[in-house]
Amino acid sequence: MTSTLFTPDRPALVGRLRAAGCVFAEDEAELLIAAAGSPEALTDLVDRRVAGLPLEHLLGWAEFCGLRVAVDPGVFVPRGRTALLVAAAAAVAGPSPAVLDLCCGSGAAALVLHGRLASRWLAAADLDPAAVACARRNLDPLGVPVYEGDLFAPLPTRWRGRLDLVVANAPYVPSGAVAMLPPEARLYEAPVALDGGVDGLAVLRRVAAGAAEWLAPGGHLAVEVSAGQAVALCAVLADAGLIPTVVRDDELEATAVTARRPG
Ligand SMILES: C[S@@+](CC[C@H](N)C(=O)[O-])C[C@H]1O[C@@H](n2cnc3c(N)ncnc32)[C@H](O)[C@@H]1O
Repeated sequence: MTSTLFTPDRPALVGRLRAAGCVFAEDEAELLIAAAGSPEALTDLVDRRVAGLPLEHLLGWAEFCGLRVAVDPGVFVPRGRTALLVAAAAAVAGPSPAVLDLCCGSGAAALVLHGRLASRWLAAADLDPAAVACARRNLDPLGVPVYEGDLFAPLPTRWRGRLDLVVANAPYVPSGAVAMLPPEARLYEAPVALDGGVDGLAVLRRVAAGAAEWLAPGGHLAVEVSAGQAVALCAVLADAGLIPTVVRDDELEATAVTARRPG
């Protein structure tokens, strides 16, 4: 139990959160109490949580692979399932790799890879200025640069054809399915973070084409998709000249695909 300068009514708080559909109401209550400096601030946080704001946006951080990642309003909240993508990417990285976290959002993947790999170069990039600002908050202290722009376009050209690993959790929700996402995602995360075009693979097609140019021979692209998209994505990657391998974790309900540039 967290100690605070005030005594919140925990049962009432948990009851409100549970009634609003928060599955882990006890845990959320403790996190909100710890984040609030006063009864008024706690009431405000709980009111906004009950109104549907994502817990992570209220706290200003999310836990990802055991690390605390700053997450600003509107920025994609790193999902637990993306641990598979990060693990699959780290497994194929090789020694002292040059690594790019493309479509980095908060920079969660780069943050974890910074600790797992002895990379000779690590950078991140995103199109959305809010995501770039958030990623910089997470990655500046580590000296990891964050570039703003469309996919590979903002990167220093000296890395073209020299990257050993490109990790990209790009948007992959089919446009028609965005309306069916939980409100926390649909209403509070930027559409550009979610919408992957008609079949969900529009951005990933461009990522695959870019990776074929930016990867060094023998380098790898690592991406996340839904299980149902894996076969189509493998065809996209093969068309781009890459050799795909599907990785699945049923417990995390996660699917990642790594793809090697031959050579
Ligand atoms: C699903 S979110 C993933 C964020 C982060 N990688 C994570 O796993 O938490 C997708 C991200 O891709 C970014 N994005 C979408 N289209 C992009 C593009 N054309 N170029 C660069 N980034 C893009 C979005 O702004 C968003 O931050």
